[in-house]
Amino acid sequence: MRHLGPGSALPAWVEALDLAVFDTAWGPLEDHEELWLVEGLGYARWSLVAVVGEAELLRIAVTPEARGQGLGRQLLANSSRALQALGITQFRLEVRVSNTPARHLYEAEGWHFQGIRKGYYRDGEDAALYGKESL
Ligand SMILES: CC(C)(COP(=O)(O)OP(=O)(O)OC[C@H]1O[C@@H](n2cnc3c(N)ncnc32)[C@H](O)[C@@H]1OP(=O)(O)O)[C@@H](O)C(=O)NCCC(=O)NCCS
Repeated sequence: MRHLGPGSALPAWVEALDLAVFDTAWGPLEDHEELWLVEGLGYARWSLVAVVGEAELLRIAVTPEARGQGLGRQLLANSSRALQALGITQFRLEVRVSNTPARHLYEAEGWHFQGIRKGYYRDGEDAALYGKESL
């Protein structure tokens, strides 16, 4: 698994997958962002507030052909472990309430459902909030 830190250019396939899955490309990594990837197959992008030990999962995606083989789980687990090594202890994320595969993945990886944010997405869909604490 490869790691890209702030200032790194995103590989073209990451931008293409981003666009295909989410309809919008997030763009270059900002100062506080970190990305882990498995070449050509998937990535997990995080935003850090390192000073308070917090990180938010911005996006995780696996190419459609490679799904269901454990790669999403591996990306989430390995990137979380790497963030812990950087001093992160509080993890959080938002996900569309209808996104069953992702919600199952988070719950299988020990994330806790923390509530609903009404109408969070531009199309009006609610977000489910999840958190995970590790010490
Ligand atoms: C969510 C996503 C990253 C999962 O990646 P993946 O490589 O297919 O996931 P894995 O094979 O590692 O599966 C891990 C767990 O996720 C859950 N899961 C994965 N696909 C699922 C599906 N279609 N339905 C229900 N649960 C599913 C299961 O709990 C699974 O564990 P199990 O195999 O032991 O039952 C992938 O579906 C994806 O890229 N989706 C589009 C992008 C997206 O919606 N990202 C999340 C919001 S940012």
